[in-house]
Amino acid sequence: MLAAVRANGEFCQRVAREDNSYHRSFGTTMKERTSSVGRSVAQSIQSEDTLPIRPTWTESSSAANMSKVVSALWQLAREWSSDGEDQRAQCLDPMLAELLRIRPVTQANRNKQRVLAPGCGAGRIVLELAIRGYAAVGNEFCYGMLLVATFMLNRSTRRNEFTIHPWVTKRGNHFTDSAASRAVQIPDLCAREALSTAAESTGDGDGPSLSMCAGEFLVEFSKPEHVGQWAAVLTCFFIDTAPNILDYIDCIWRLLEPGGVWINNGPLLYHWAAEAGSSDDPRYEQSVELSYEAVRHVAEGVGFIFEQEARCDCRYAADPTSMMATAYNTVLFSARKPKS
Ligand SMILES: C[S@@+](CC[C@H](N)C(=O)[O-])C[C@H]1O[C@@H](n2cnc3c(N)ncnc32)[C@H](O)[C@@H]1O
Repeated sequence: MLAAVRANGEFCQRVAREDNSYHRSFGTTMKERTSSVGRSVAQSIQSEDTLPIRPTWTESSSAANMSKVVSALWQLAREWSSDGEDQRAQCLDPMLAELLRIRPVTQANRNKQRVLAPGCGAGRIVLELAIRGYAAVGNEFCYGMLLVATFMLNRSTRRNEFTIHPWVTKRGNHFTDSAASRAVQIPDLCAREALSTAAESTGDGDGPSLSMCAGEFLVEFSKPEHVGQWAAVLTCFFIDTAPNILDYIDCIWRLLEPGGVWINNGPLLYHWAAEAGSSDDPRYEQSVELSYEAVRHVAEGVGFIFEQEARCDCRYAADPTSMMATAYNTVLFSARKPKS
């Protein structure tokens, strides 16, 4: 158990230390990059096994930071390991199939159709779009998740290069003694290799195109330069992060070019829903929690034409060997902005 926590710590320190444009633009020092992450990993499990490392952490990490580190490890397993393969097949594959059906990639448009994935987490969706021949842009506002995404997309050099132990913090429902500390290899697909294979198949044309836009979705994508610039917006487990989902629908409508498509898969576990008075953050008070029927009604009112609608059984960030999993019966839909 202790070795598993140490290995998580080493991996997270490596991700946090790595020089990147986010650290440069925020001017984060090396101490800032590593101290909070290190403490969070060390404190992320509280068992007798962690006692030997406790004395080296003099300050305690906030609960919020600890939960971010744990979520990042789960998200890495979901997006970048073979543990997450089933989850991606349930959730991401039908979205990509729908995109290819509605906006096929041809020799003429390869790497030119601009596709945005807001709330892209650890970035796998961006790679999957780019290797299929779309000009992919991911958007994410969580600093920790941005570090993980940029690391997986830019720094990994080979398949199964890193080992993490994402389930070490889960208490209970382990089938065997060793299940909690089970090692998980990442990445199951190396971005560098996958992009170079895609570039070879492109021939003389433009190579694969992918990038990340850091920031809050509405703040970044309400800017006038984005209006009508996107062939597709793919929202995967994202739309329920809105304090007011009507703002997301409105923004996605404006982003799409005529003929563009919004493809969604996810639940409506509204992130800002809470008992009145349970938090000082005003977004909890503003939370709007529409049913799917109402979301569809609003989207049609804006002008979207719904094409495909299905329910999907999707697990989320679940240890495949555990006796318990979080599973949703999500809604998958595609909705087009008419050409005129
Ligand atoms: C439930 S996770 C889904 C991650 C990924 N799409 C997946 O399916 O695994 C939602 C993600 O959206 C990000 N997010 C939430 N609100 C956001 C916002 N307003 N702007 C940008 N990203 C946001 C979170 O940080 C988180 O990574």
